[in-house]
Amino acid sequence: MQIEQLIENIRDPLYRTKFVNVPDIIADWLSDSGGLHKKDVLEFGCGEGTMALGVALRKEAQRVVGVEILDVHEQCRTLAQSQLGVRELPRNLFLRKIAPGADLTEFGAFDVAYSWSVFEHVAQDMLPQAMTSVFNALKPGGHFFLQIDPLYYSPNGSHMMPWLVEPWAHLTMQADTFRRRLFEAPETPAKVRNEWAVYIPLNAATADERKTLWETYDTLNRMTAPQLRRLAESAGFEVIRDYRTTAEREIPLNLLEAYDREALLTEQIVLLLRKPATA
Ligand SMILES: C[S@@+](CC[C@H](N)C(=O)[O-])C[C@H]1O[C@@H](n2cnc3c(N)ncnc32)[C@H](O)[C@@H]1O
Repeated sequence: MQIEQLIENIRDPLYRTKFVNVPDIIADWLSDSGGLHKKDVLEFGCGEGTMALGVALRKEAQRVVGVEILDVHEQCRTLAQSQLGVRELPRNLFLRKIAPGADLTEFGAFDVAYSWSVFEHVAQDMLPQAMTSVFNALKPGGHFFLQIDPLYYSPNGSHMMPWLVEPWAHLTMQADTFRRRLFEAPETPAKVRNEWAVYIPLNAATADERKTLWETYDTLNRMTAPQLRRLAESAGFEVIRDYRTTAEREIPLNLLEAYDREALLTEQIVLLLRKPATA
């Protein structure tokens, strides 16, 4: 079946975003440095593997290896069957469970690595190891596309906006109030549950859902944009491009007195990194 026909089958807009839009953005960012076509590609933190599948099928990568610390990648085939109508995953796609911080060189050497909405979830004590594991798995001259959105100190940085809508709620409220508000929030709409399917099974009870949401919030590593850049440079990467987007919001005075303005407003960072050709 032609790829365009597969895309027409997609009913879930989030699946479309992951299968079509995100791979397109990554390919676009890599357009001056060799792209994804026929490349060996690593996805760090692949979730259920839809983006990796999009890169494998639509960008015709030589090989895509998606690594993930949860079992969620096992859902890739079922989702691809229901959304795209394909029976089997392509032979150039490999989804593998890893231990946090694992050496990735066992999967070979890669031309390109990418990571989408993952590095804010990597445990603080694993961050240098995680960054170095990607660096080591790249070929000299290889590229790493790295995106985080939202950053912790930004208005929606708690990742809990569907339940606590106030901007910076996590920085302004007492921790126990924030937790209680999260647990007492109204039932989660189906669309939001779908967006959280990486972490929360669709049939999970509300109590389990809230427990997982709290855990997800509580384990955010509080990374800032300059800190991510330093982490990448310390691992040996050169920064080719550094793109940040900022929120347009008035900052409450008490927050301005306590935190850095730029950290409070920077919502997203996208880095294009290169492993030096001589490394
Ligand atoms: C918000 S999800 C994003 C998943 C996928 N990139 C997407 O956008 O659909 C974050 C993912 O990062 C994974 N993750 C967290 N720490 C990790 C680590 N140390 N190594 C690899 N993956 C990790 C989580 O298990 C989770 O699947």
